[in-house]
Amino acid sequence: MKVKGFLKDVTGASRVTNARRKLIESGSPENNYRDHIREVADELHPKATRIVVTKVEDVSPTARRFTFEATDGDKLPPFQAGQYASLDLEINGTLTTRPYSISSAPFEARTGEHPFFQLTIRNGRPETGFAANWLYANLKEGDKLTAHLPFGEFHFEPLRDSKHVVAPAGGSGITPFYAMAKEIEHGTLDMDLTILYGSVSTKDIILEQQLKAIQSDRVKFVNVISGDEEYDGEKGFLSRDLIKKYSAEDTTYFVCGPLPMYHFVKGELEALHVPARRIRMEVFGAPRDVTAAEGYPKDFEPKKFKLTVLRGIQKDVIEADSREPLTVALERAGIKNNSRCRSGACGFCRTKLVSGDVFVPAEGDGRRRADKQFGYVHACSTWPLSDCTIRIPIL
Ligand code: FES
Repeated sequence: MKVKGFLKDVTGASRVTNARRKLIESGSPENNYRDHIREVADELHPKATRIVVTKVEDVSPTARRFTFEATDGDKLPPFQAGQYASLDLEINGTLTTRPYSISSAPFEARTGEHPFFQLTIRNGRPETGFAANWLYANLKEGDKLTAHLPFGEFHFEPLRDSKHVVAPAGGSGITPFYAMAKEIEHGTLDMDLTILYGSVSTKDIILEQQLKAIQSDRVKFVNVISGDEEYDGEKGFLSRDLIKKYSAEDTTYFVCGPLPMYHFVKGELEALHVPARRIRMEVFGAPRDVTAAEGYPKDFEPKKFKLTVLRGIQKDVIEADSREPLTVALERAGIKNNSRCRSGACGFCRTKLVSGDVFVPAEGDGRRRADKQFGYVHACSTWPLSDCTIRIPIL
Protein backbone atom coordinates (compact mmCIF):
# COMPACT_ATOMS: atom_id res chain seq x y z
CA MET A 1 0.00 0.00 0.00
CA LYS A 2 2.82 2.35 0.84
CA VAL A 3 4.37 1.82 -2.56
CA LYS A 4 1.09 2.74 -4.24
CA GLY A 5 0.95 6.01 -2.29
CA PHE A 6 4.49 6.79 -3.26
CA LEU A 7 3.77 6.21 -6.97
CA LYS A 8 0.75 8.48 -6.76
CA ASP A 9 2.89 11.28 -5.29
CA VAL A 10 5.53 10.88 -7.95
CA THR A 11 2.92 10.94 -10.75
CA GLY A 12 1.30 14.03 -9.25
CA ALA A 13 4.63 15.84 -9.03
CA SER A 14 5.40 14.96 -12.64
CA ARG A 15 2.01 16.33 -13.81
CA VAL A 16 2.74 19.67 -12.12
CA THR A 17 6.14 19.82 -13.77
CA ASN A 18 4.72 19.10 -17.22
CA ALA A 19 1.96 21.69 -16.82
CA ARG A 20 4.52 24.27 -15.78
CA ARG A 21 6.77 23.41 -18.72
CA LYS A 22 3.84 23.82 -21.16
CA LEU A 23 2.97 27.21 -19.64
CA ILE A 24 6.52 28.46 -20.10
CA GLU A 25 6.77 27.09 -23.65
CA SER A 26 3.42 28.65 -24.60
CA GLY A 27 4.90 32.17 -24.40
CA SER A 28 2.62 33.28 -21.57
CA PRO A 29 3.72 36.24 -19.39
CA GLU A 30 5.05 33.63 -17.01
CA ASN A 31 7.75 33.00 -19.59
CA ASN A 32 9.77 35.71 -17.85
CA TYR A 33 9.56 33.81 -14.64
CA ARG A 34 12.71 34.14 -12.53
CA ASP A 35 13.37 31.91 -9.61
CA HIS A 36 14.96 34.43 -7.28
CA ILE A 37 15.48 31.89 -4.53
CA ARG A 38 17.34 29.63 -6.96
CA GLU A 39 19.49 32.57 -8.09
CA VAL A 40 20.48 33.43 -4.49
CA ALA A 41 21.16 29.77 -3.74
CA ASP A 42 23.36 29.45 -6.85
CA GLU A 43 25.32 32.53 -5.84
CA LEU A 44 25.82 31.25 -2.31
CA HIS A 45 26.67 27.75 -3.40
CA PRO A 46 27.76 27.59 -7.06
CA LYS A 47 28.36 24.17 -8.59
CA ALA A 48 31.94 25.13 -9.41
CA THR A 49 34.25 28.15 -9.14
CA ARG A 50 37.26 28.72 -11.39
CA ILE A 51 40.20 29.89 -9.31
CA VAL A 52 43.77 30.99 -9.94
CA VAL A 53 46.81 30.70 -7.65
CA THR A 54 48.03 34.20 -6.78
CA LYS A 55 50.61 33.42 -4.08
CA VAL A 56 52.61 30.47 -2.76
CA GLU A 57 54.37 30.71 0.64
CA ASP A 58 56.16 28.27 2.95
CA VAL A 59 54.55 28.32 6.40
CA SER A 60 56.74 25.58 7.93
CA PRO A 61 59.56 23.38 6.64
CA THR A 62 56.90 20.95 5.36
CA ALA A 63 53.82 23.05 4.59
CA ARG A 64 52.91 25.54 1.91
CA ARG A 65 50.09 28.05 1.84
CA PHE A 66 48.37 28.71 -1.47
CA THR A 67 46.31 31.85 -2.06
CA PHE A 68 43.50 31.65 -4.62
CA GLU A 69 41.33 34.29 -6.23
CA ALA A 70 38.36 33.75 -8.50
CA THR A 71 39.25 34.05 -12.17
CA ASP A 72 37.94 37.03 -14.15
CA GLY A 73 34.34 37.88 -13.47
CA ASP A 74 33.76 35.12 -10.93
CA LYS A 75 33.04 35.74 -7.27
CA LEU A 76 34.13 33.56 -4.39
CA PRO A 77 31.14 32.06 -2.61
CA PRO A 78 30.75 32.91 1.09
CA PHE A 79 31.76 30.25 3.60
CA GLN A 80 32.10 29.78 7.34
CA ALA A 81 35.37 29.40 9.22
CA GLY A 82 36.04 25.65 9.44
CA GLN A 83 34.45 24.64 6.12
CA TYR A 84 36.38 23.04 3.28
CA ALA A 85 36.89 23.34 -0.47
CA SER A 86 37.12 20.40 -2.84
CA LEU A 87 39.57 20.71 -5.74
CA ASP A 88 39.23 18.95 -9.10
CA LEU A 89 42.66 17.62 -10.02
CA GLU A 90 44.25 15.80 -12.90
CA ILE A 91 47.38 14.07 -11.68
CA ASN A 92 49.39 12.00 -14.14
CA GLY A 93 46.30 11.43 -16.26
CA THR A 94 44.04 10.49 -13.32
CA LEU A 95 41.01 12.67 -12.61
CA THR A 96 40.43 12.99 -8.90
CA THR A 97 39.19 15.39 -6.21
CA ARG A 98 40.59 16.36 -2.83
CA PRO A 99 39.03 18.19 0.10
CA TYR A 100 41.10 20.74 2.06
CA SER A 101 40.03 22.91 4.98
CA ILE A 102 40.08 26.58 4.12
CA SER A 103 42.82 28.19 6.22
CA SER A 104 41.90 31.82 5.59
CA ALA A 105 39.05 33.72 7.21
CA PRO A 106 35.65 34.16 5.55
CA PHE A 107 35.88 37.98 5.68
CA GLU A 108 38.97 37.83 3.45
CA ALA A 109 36.90 36.19 0.70
CA ARG A 110 34.28 38.94 0.69
CA THR A 111 36.21 42.16 1.34
CA GLY A 112 39.20 44.05 -0.03
CA GLU A 113 40.32 44.74 -3.56
CA HIS A 114 41.30 41.14 -4.21
CA PRO A 115 39.08 38.77 -2.23
CA PHE A 116 40.82 35.46 -1.70
CA PHE A 117 40.85 32.18 0.14
CA GLN A 118 43.79 30.02 1.18
CA LEU A 119 44.60 26.34 1.53
CA THR A 120 47.60 25.15 3.53
CA ILE A 121 48.96 21.84 2.33
CA ARG A 122 51.50 19.60 3.98
CA ASN A 123 53.99 17.42 2.21
CA GLY A 124 55.87 14.22 2.79
CA ARG A 125 54.08 12.84 5.86
CA PRO A 126 52.78 9.28 6.17
CA GLU A 127 49.27 10.69 6.58
CA THR A 128 49.42 12.99 3.55
CA GLY A 129 48.32 11.42 0.32
CA PHE A 130 49.77 11.54 -3.17
CA ALA A 131 47.52 14.49 -4.13
CA ALA A 132 48.81 16.68 -1.28
CA ASN A 133 52.40 15.83 -2.18
CA TRP A 134 51.69 16.59 -5.84
CA LEU A 135 50.06 19.94 -5.06
CA TYR A 136 52.90 20.88 -2.71
CA ALA A 137 55.48 20.16 -5.37
CA ASN A 138 53.71 21.39 -8.51
CA LEU A 139 51.15 24.11 -7.87
CA LYS A 140 52.51 27.54 -8.77
CA GLU A 141 51.37 31.12 -9.26
CA GLY A 142 49.13 31.52 -12.28
CA ASP A 143 47.86 27.93 -12.28
CA LYS A 144 44.10 27.64 -12.72
CA LEU A 145 41.89 25.05 -11.06
CA THR A 146 38.23 24.24 -10.50
CA ALA A 147 37.07 24.34 -6.88
CA HIS A 148 33.79 23.46 -5.23
CA LEU A 149 33.00 25.28 -2.01
CA PRO A 150 31.90 25.58 0.67
CA PHE A 151 31.26 22.18 2.25
CA GLY A 152 31.20 20.69 5.72
CA GLU A 153 29.54 21.11 9.07
CA PHE A 154 32.74 21.78 11.01
CA HIS A 155 31.97 25.35 11.97
CA PHE A 156 30.81 27.17 15.07
CA GLU A 157 27.06 27.34 15.43
CA PRO A 158 25.94 29.60 18.33
CA LEU A 159 22.58 27.84 18.70
CA ARG A 160 24.31 24.51 19.19
CA ASP A 161 27.82 25.14 20.55
CA SER A 162 29.09 26.60 23.78
CA LYS A 163 31.00 29.88 23.32
CA HIS A 164 34.04 28.36 24.99
CA VAL A 165 35.70 26.12 22.42
CA VAL A 166 38.73 23.89 22.99
CA ALA A 167 40.27 22.59 19.78
CA PRO A 168 42.62 19.60 19.91
CA ALA A 169 44.45 19.59 16.57
CA GLY A 170 47.25 17.72 14.84
CA GLY A 171 49.15 18.12 11.57
CA SER A 172 47.27 20.11 8.94
CA GLY A 173 44.21 19.86 11.23
CA ILE A 174 45.34 23.26 12.52
CA THR A 175 44.07 24.97 9.35
CA PRO A 176 40.34 25.34 10.13
CA PHE A 177 41.26 26.74 13.55
CA TYR A 178 43.51 29.36 12.01
CA ALA A 179 40.52 30.46 9.91
CA MET A 180 38.36 30.63 13.07
CA ALA A 181 41.08 32.53 14.98
CA LYS A 182 41.34 35.16 12.24
CA GLU A 183 37.57 35.56 12.07
CA ILE A 184 37.43 36.02 15.87
CA GLU A 185 40.21 38.58 15.71
CA HIS A 186 38.30 40.41 12.98
CA GLY A 187 35.25 40.60 15.27
CA THR A 188 32.95 38.57 13.04
CA LEU A 189 32.94 35.35 15.04
CA ASP A 190 31.77 35.48 18.63
CA MET A 191 33.51 32.64 20.44
CA ASP A 192 36.57 31.96 22.62
CA LEU A 193 39.05 29.53 21.13
CA THR A 194 41.85 27.57 22.77
CA ILE A 195 43.85 25.53 20.26
CA LEU A 196 45.80 22.58 21.65
CA TYR A 197 48.14 21.76 18.80
CA GLY A 198 49.88 18.38 19.15
CA SER A 199 53.12 17.84 17.23
CA VAL A 200 55.97 15.37 17.56
CA SER A 201 58.57 18.09 17.12
CA THR A 202 58.61 21.89 17.01
CA LYS A 203 59.70 21.52 13.36
CA ASP A 204 56.24 20.08 12.56
CA ILE A 205 54.32 23.15 13.70
CA ILE A 206 52.41 24.82 10.87
CA LEU A 207 51.39 28.50 10.84
CA GLU A 208 53.07 29.08 14.23
CA GLN A 209 54.14 32.68 13.63
CA GLN A 210 50.78 33.54 12.09
CA LEU A 211 48.87 32.07 15.03
CA LYS A 212 51.08 33.68 17.65
CA ALA A 213 50.56 37.02 15.95
CA ILE A 214 46.82 36.93 16.51
CA GLN A 215 46.70 35.56 20.07
CA SER A 216 44.42 37.59 22.31
CA ASP A 217 42.04 37.26 25.26
CA ARG A 218 39.75 35.29 22.97
CA VAL A 219 42.31 33.17 21.06
CA LYS A 220 44.87 31.00 22.86
CA PHE A 221 47.41 28.89 21.02
CA VAL A 222 49.10 26.08 22.99
CA ASN A 223 51.73 23.85 21.40
CA VAL A 224 51.97 20.35 22.83
CA ILE A 225 55.18 18.52 21.90
CA SER A 226 55.29 14.72 22.24
CA GLY A 227 58.89 14.05 21.07
CA ASP A 228 61.90 14.07 23.41
CA GLU A 229 63.33 17.44 22.43
CA GLU A 230 63.67 20.09 25.12
CA TYR A 231 60.60 22.27 25.08
CA ASP A 232 59.63 25.02 27.43
CA GLY A 233 55.88 24.46 27.22
CA GLU A 234 53.30 21.65 27.28
CA LYS A 235 54.86 18.21 26.68
CA GLY A 236 53.21 14.86 25.96
CA PHE A 237 49.99 13.95 24.18
CA LEU A 238 46.58 15.59 23.95
CA SER A 239 45.60 13.74 27.09
CA ARG A 240 42.48 14.08 29.20
CA ASP A 241 44.47 15.97 31.89
CA LEU A 242 45.68 18.51 29.39
CA ILE A 243 42.25 18.91 27.81
CA LYS A 244 40.69 19.35 31.25
CA LYS A 245 43.27 21.97 32.19
CA TYR A 246 42.13 24.24 29.34
CA SER A 247 38.39 23.48 29.52
CA ALA A 248 35.69 25.56 31.18
CA GLU A 249 32.60 24.08 32.79
CA ASP A 250 30.65 24.31 29.57
CA THR A 251 32.99 23.65 26.65
CA THR A 252 32.48 22.49 23.09
CA TYR A 253 35.33 20.48 21.56
CA PHE A 254 36.28 20.78 17.90
CA VAL A 255 38.75 18.03 16.92
CA CYS A 256 40.67 17.99 13.66
CA GLY A 257 43.73 15.95 12.73
CA PRO A 258 45.02 12.62 11.48
CA LEU A 259 42.97 9.51 12.21
CA PRO A 260 45.19 8.13 15.06
CA MET A 261 45.03 11.47 16.88
CA TYR A 262 41.27 11.63 16.30
CA HIS A 263 40.83 8.15 17.86
CA PHE A 264 43.03 9.03 20.81
CA VAL A 265 41.29 12.34 21.56
CA LYS A 266 37.86 10.77 21.14
CA GLY A 267 38.78 8.21 23.84
CA GLU A 268 40.07 10.94 26.15
CA LEU A 269 36.90 13.01 25.76
CA GLU A 270 34.79 9.93 26.46
CA ALA A 271 36.86 9.30 29.59
CA LEU A 272 36.02 12.86 30.66
CA HIS A 273 32.31 12.05 30.12
CA VAL A 274 31.91 14.82 27.56
CA PRO A 275 28.46 14.40 26.00
CA ALA A 276 28.45 13.68 22.25
CA ARG A 277 26.55 16.92 21.56
CA ARG A 278 29.60 18.83 22.79
CA ILE A 279 32.04 17.15 20.36
CA ARG A 280 32.55 18.14 16.70
CA MET A 281 34.95 16.08 14.64
CA GLU A 282 36.41 16.57 11.17
CA VAL A 283 38.08 13.67 9.37
CA PHE A 284 39.13 13.79 5.73
CA GLY A 285 39.80 10.79 3.60
CA ALA A 286 39.40 7.07 3.86
CA PRO A 287 41.37 4.99 6.38
CA ARG A 288 44.82 4.11 5.02
CA ASP A 289 44.43 0.50 6.14
CA VAL A 290 40.81 -0.57 5.99
CA THR A 291 41.66 -4.08 7.24
CA ALA A 292 42.33 -2.53 10.66
CA ALA A 293 38.81 -1.06 10.82
CA GLU A 294 36.39 -2.54 13.30
CA GLY A 295 34.25 -5.24 11.68
CA TYR A 296 36.51 -5.91 8.67
CA PRO A 297 36.35 -9.68 7.91
CA LYS A 298 39.15 -11.50 9.73
CA ASP A 299 41.93 -13.06 7.62
CA PHE A 300 40.56 -11.63 4.38
CA GLU A 301 43.42 -11.80 1.87
CA PRO A 302 43.88 -8.72 -0.38
CA LYS A 303 42.40 -9.43 -3.82
CA LYS A 304 41.60 -7.79 -7.13
CA PHE A 305 37.95 -8.01 -8.17
CA LYS A 306 35.89 -7.27 -11.24
CA LEU A 307 33.80 -4.13 -10.85
CA THR A 308 31.01 -3.72 -13.39
CA VAL A 309 30.02 -0.07 -13.71
CA LEU A 310 26.65 0.82 -15.24
CA ARG A 311 25.99 4.38 -16.48
CA GLY A 312 22.74 4.68 -18.41
CA ILE A 313 23.09 2.05 -21.15
CA GLN A 314 26.88 2.02 -20.91
CA LYS A 315 28.63 -0.85 -19.17
CA ASP A 316 32.33 -0.97 -18.21
CA VAL A 317 34.15 -3.74 -16.42
CA ILE A 318 37.15 -2.49 -14.46
CA GLU A 319 39.49 -3.76 -11.75
CA ALA A 320 38.92 -3.00 -8.08
CA ASP A 321 41.42 -3.67 -5.31
CA SER A 322 39.98 -4.86 -1.99
CA ARG A 323 42.34 -2.40 -0.22
CA GLU A 324 40.96 0.65 -2.02
CA PRO A 325 37.51 2.25 -1.93
CA LEU A 326 35.32 2.05 -5.04
CA THR A 327 35.94 5.75 -5.76
CA VAL A 328 39.64 5.03 -6.30
CA ALA A 329 38.85 2.10 -8.65
CA LEU A 330 36.64 4.43 -10.72
CA GLU A 331 39.31 7.14 -10.81
CA ARG A 332 42.03 4.70 -11.83
CA ALA A 333 39.81 3.59 -14.73
CA GLY A 334 39.15 7.22 -15.74
CA ILE A 335 35.43 7.02 -14.90
CA LYS A 336 34.03 10.26 -13.53
CA ASN A 337 31.97 10.08 -10.38
CA ASN A 338 31.10 12.89 -8.01
CA SER A 339 33.07 13.20 -4.80
CA ARG A 340 33.73 15.94 -2.27
CA CYS A 341 34.58 14.88 1.31
CA ARG A 342 36.01 11.41 0.45
CA SER A 343 35.18 10.24 3.96
CA GLY A 344 31.60 8.99 3.65
CA ALA A 345 29.93 12.11 5.02
CA CYS A 346 28.65 14.36 2.21
CA GLY A 347 26.77 11.83 0.03
CA PHE A 348 28.05 13.25 -3.28
CA CYS A 349 29.39 9.86 -4.38
CA ARG A 350 26.11 8.02 -3.63
CA THR A 351 26.04 4.86 -5.76
CA LYS A 352 23.59 1.99 -6.23
CA LEU A 353 25.13 -1.35 -5.33
CA VAL A 354 23.42 -3.72 -7.78
CA SER A 355 25.24 -6.87 -6.64
CA GLY A 356 28.27 -8.02 -4.69
CA ASP A 357 29.67 -7.94 -1.17
CA VAL A 358 31.26 -4.82 0.23
CA PHE A 359 32.61 -3.48 3.50
CA VAL A 360 31.58 -0.09 4.87
CA PRO A 361 33.37 0.88 8.11
CA ALA A 362 30.96 2.15 10.75
CA GLU A 363 33.08 5.27 11.21
CA GLY A 364 32.75 6.31 7.55
CA ASP A 365 29.13 5.32 7.12
CA GLY A 366 27.26 8.58 6.58
CA ARG A 367 24.39 6.96 4.66
CA ARG A 368 20.76 7.71 5.39
CA ARG A 369 18.72 4.84 6.75
CA ALA A 370 16.69 4.56 3.52
CA ASP A 371 19.88 4.35 1.45
CA LYS A 372 21.08 1.42 3.51
CA GLN A 373 17.73 -0.27 3.13
CA PHE A 374 17.60 0.18 -0.65
CA GLY A 375 21.20 -0.81 -1.35
CA TYR A 376 22.98 2.50 -1.85
CA VAL A 377 26.56 3.05 -0.78
CA HIS A 378 28.96 5.99 -0.70
CA ALA A 379 31.67 4.90 -3.12
CA CYS A 380 34.42 6.76 -1.23
CA SER A 381 33.83 4.72 1.93
CA THR A 382 33.00 1.32 0.42
CA TRP A 383 35.53 -1.48 -0.15
CA PRO A 384 34.80 -4.50 -2.38
CA LEU A 385 34.85 -8.00 -0.89
CA SER A 386 33.79 -9.78 -4.13
CA ASP A 387 33.09 -8.99 -7.77
CA CYS A 388 30.52 -6.19 -7.72
CA THR A 389 28.15 -4.31 -10.00
CA ILE A 390 27.34 -0.67 -9.32
CA ARG A 391 25.22 1.95 -11.04
CA ILE A 392 26.47 5.54 -11.06
CA PRO A 393 25.00 8.72 -12.52
CA ILE A 394 26.00 9.88 -16.01
CA LEU A 395 28.11 13.03 -15.62
S1 FES B 1 32.60 12.02 -1.36
FE1 FES B 1 31.45 12.58 0.38
S2 FES B 1 30.38 10.73 0.85
FE2 FES B 1 31.72 10.17 -0.74
